[in-house]
Parts: sequence; C-alpha cells; structure tokens
Amino acid sequence: MSTQQAEPESQEAPEDPEMKGAESPQERRLEEKDDGMVDERAEKTAELEGETVLIKVFRYDPEVADKQEPRFDDFHVPFTKGMTVLDAVMYARDEYDSSLTFRHSCRQAVCGSDAFFVNGRQRLGCKTQISDLEQPVRIEPLPHQEVVKDLVVDMDHFYDQMHTVEPYFQDEDTPPVEDLEEQRQSPENREKIKMSSRCIWCGACMSSCNIAAGDNEYLGPAAINKAYKFAMDDREGEEIKEHRLRILEQEHGVWRCQTQFSCTEVCPKDIPLTEHIQELKREAVKKNLKFW
Ligand code: SF4
Ligand code: FES
Repeated sequence: MSTQQAEPESQEAPEDPEMKGAESPQERRLEEKDDGMVDERAEKTAELEGETVLIKVFRYDPEVADKQEPRFDDFHVPFTKGMTVLDAVMYARDEYDSSLTFRHSCRQAVCGSDAFFVNGRQRLGCKTQISDLEQPVRIEPLPHQEVVKDLVVDMDHFYDQMHTVEPYFQDEDTPPVEDLEEQRQSPENREKIKMSSRCIWCGACMSSCNIAAGDNEYLGPAAINKAYKFAMDDREGEEIKEHRLRILEQEHGVWRCQTQFSCTEVCPKDIPLTEHIQELKREAVKKNLKFW
C-alpha cells in the first residue's frame, strides 16, 4: 500500500487585529482570504478562455500490476468559465481514462467527499476554481492517509476518531416519551456553536495536521470540533459537559494540539478549529481547578 507524506504548508503569522479592523482572528483570516480574489479570478478567467489546462493527477492501483508504482498522469483539459478542480478530473475521466478513480457527490461543498491535495494544499475539488491555481495543477490524494486507489483514501481512521467523541446530542435526564417537549436554545448559544456545526467530515483538517500525522491516536481537529459543538451546547447540561471534557482532556486529546493553525487554514467551511480547541483547553483547566 502506498501512503502520501506531504510537507506541511508554511504558516504566516497572524496579522495585527488593529490593522484590519476585524473583530476576531477568524474574521481577519476570512477578510484576508477574500481580499482581491474576485478581481484576480476575473482576470485569470479571461486569460484562460479558449486554452487548455494541464492537470497532473496522482495514479496508483494496488490491484493492477503495472499501476502499483505510484506516478502522475498528465491530462490537457479544455478550460471553461467557472471550471473547478472536480470538473477537470471528471473531464479527464470521461474523455481520456475511465479508470481514473476519485470520490464526489454533491458538487457544491456539502457532502465532503472530494477533498484532495491540490498544488500542495488540502482543498475541496468542487469548491476550488481552476482559475485560482498555478499551472500545472497537481492533484493528489489527501496526505497522511492510506491510498486505496488514485485519489481515493481510506477514511476509516478519521471516522473512528469522530465517533470517539460521541457525536450525538445527549440529555441529562431524558423524560419519558410522552413528556418530551421541544428543547429551546438561546440565540446567543446558537451563535456560539454555529460555526462548529458546519463540518462536512471531509478530513482536510486531519490531513493537514502535523500532530495527527505523528500520533495516530490523536483525536484530531475535526473530532475535537465535533465535541465542541456538543460541549458548548447549553441544552446538554453540566454533567454531560464534564463527561465530554473528560474524553477531550485525555492523553491524545486537546493537549496534543500545538496551535499551528494548519487545520483552520485548510477547512473549506471556515470553521475556527484552532480557536475551538483552545477554548476547550481552557474549559478543561477550569473544570479541574480546585479552591480550598
Ligand atoms: S472541520 Fe473543516 S476541514 Fe475538518 S472535516 Fe470538518 S469541514 Fe472538513
Ligand atoms: S462533491 Fe460534495 S463536497 Fe465536493
């Protein structure tokens, strides 16, 4: 079996908040991300119209003798306005090589199945515009996961870690069914956990995390973010929150995070993962404080 080992992206130091006028580090990052993007894309699109784009796609198939040695295949794809990385690999599969294998479903950044390593960064194929990328566009499976075939990686470990944090709502004293009634949440509490509930289980964050790469038992940013969503939901109550914090503060939990921000940088849903992990660390400390 082949695995992809990729170098982490270099991380830029966060900018001074005063400079951008944004309220939180996450808002600053999003502002930086959007700055000038639309103009640049329009310019690049005009340049590419009528051209072909070169994509270099990672290939590997353990079941076919002459494909067991990993390699890159080149495909020249006619550019169309609005073309995404997913569109390009679909064109390559449909027009040139029907054995080219990858996952996709919704094509609108909802199902999380087409996370690839594109030009050295974890991205959703359907959300990434070809016009935003340098050519040739290099498309690989997610690093740090076992490759099943071509761009498909084994997600079992990622799902296992997600399930470790009990990713479902738990109530302290669930009353008998006949007495069940709607549980209301305050708008403030909803606002607090809003971003964490956007996760689409794509695995990009886990793949970008150096700590997860070196510690197979580390829960990882996606699972911790999932735990955040429930631990911070007031409706679950203090007792369940303590139970969740006990899971999170174990040896391979939140304290493994070294605040490198790589997960936050690559998350296609812009979830402030690193900030959620830091907040859970603070909650774990508060829970363990004793006053005599
Ligand atoms: S937290 Fe973001 S990067 Fe990680 S699995 Fe969820 S959507 Fe993907
Ligand atoms: S195809 Fe569903 S997220 Fe890209």
